[in-house]
Amino acid sequence: MRCLILSGFVALSWFAAAASPACAQAAPPQPPRQSNGLALTPPMGWNSWNHFGCDISEQTIRAAADAMVSSGMKDAGYQYVVIDDCWHGPRDAEGNITADPKRFPSGIKALADYVHAKGLKFGIYSDAGTQTCAGRPGSRGYEYQDARTYAAWGVDYLKYDWCHTGTQDGQSSYTLMSDALRATGRPIVFSLCDWGSNKDWLWAKNVGNLWRTTGDIYDGWESRDGHYNGMTNIVDMQAELAAYAGPGHWNDPDMLEVGNGGMSNEEYKTQFSLWAEMAAPLIAGNDLTKMDAQTLAILTNREVIAVDQDALGVQGRRVFKDGDREVWVKPLAGGGRAVVLFNRGKEASEIAVDWDMLGYPKGTPMHVRDLWQHKDLPRAHERVAAEVPPHGVVMLRLSY
Ligand code: GLA
Repeated sequence: MRCLILSGFVALSWFAAAASPACAQAAPPQPPRQSNGLALTPPMGWNSWNHFGCDISEQTIRAAADAMVSSGMKDAGYQYVVIDDCWHGPRDAEGNITADPKRFPSGIKALADYVHAKGLKFGIYSDAGTQTCAGRPGSRGYEYQDARTYAAWGVDYLKYDWCHTGTQDGQSSYTLMSDALRATGRPIVFSLCDWGSNKDWLWAKNVGNLWRTTGDIYDGWESRDGHYNGMTNIVDMQAELAAYAGPGHWNDPDMLEVGNGGMSNEEYKTQFSLWAEMAAPLIAGNDLTKMDAQTLAILTNREVIAVDQDALGVQGRRVFKDGDREVWVKPLAGGGRAVVLFNRGKEASEIAVDWDMLGYPKGTPMHVRDLWQHKDLPRAHERVAAEVPPHGVVMLRLSY
């Protein structure tokens, strides 16, 4: 704002100058902005943050890629291996971002090549402000330069955080990086990570492919003792935003905690089921090299994954709530419905879904499949009821 600098010594003279046509400055031209055509179903992958935090290296990431293949997760649909915060070294003399030479001595390009050679895709992390949340260099002022670097390294996915952004405007900061990524010509999924601060769902449909809706998830059933955003608290925040999700642009209730130890397996089944029901990105956050069989069975439940990845791309909604008993419904391609009977209580409880909750006329005969028991239930015509374990779900697929 040259006008502001030249005449800013008295507020009055600035207003006068800013209003004068001689001092007007046109907004920079913007390319037309449409969806980048990526992430037509919610992205699936793994991210280093929830388990490893800053304690990462090229070995950590390679091992995760290896395990994603050998465990069968890749075959189940997981694709992106994403390094979160703390991979960075300093900027070089020309301002190019470099990798931490101790933890990533082979460089990021070599790591991306390794991940690609496994048939997987590679993601990285930066921040719209001057520094990342862990204090590494942010992309503020280097957006086009960083986007070019990422494309040259073979990056397929960028998670872009919101720490150290001061008075920056959210929409323009994210749009700037979105344009910079497009300008590289490389298809790069753009993951906005501003914790709902900028109400991205209202404007980010053609800017990013997913946007965080809440603060960081806490690996516990609900918030307690200064730990905010327990799993069920996040569910309640995300539930209100269903209308904004669709193919190519998803609400992101943060990554999975399945296998990280803060919740029971029943509770992790609940997280996985509700994330799928909400068409959320399925980004595992555990140590893939040390998973037990139950963790793997949850993360690779293909029938639940199919609900998440359903081509219709509609986020499921809560259609019934009576205290701790809830019913969630997600319309599926072909006219079926995914139903989650969700018991938030500490005792087992019977929960029923009635056809009027599904938008079906009573009497409509439906096939019913239990997606955790992997078994067909008797055909039903107007309702299905089930005993739901404490803190648990029964997840059903109803089809003609
Ligand atoms: C923020 C994000 C997290 C993670 C950390 C890294 O808190 O919301 O998901 O990326 O930063 O520092």
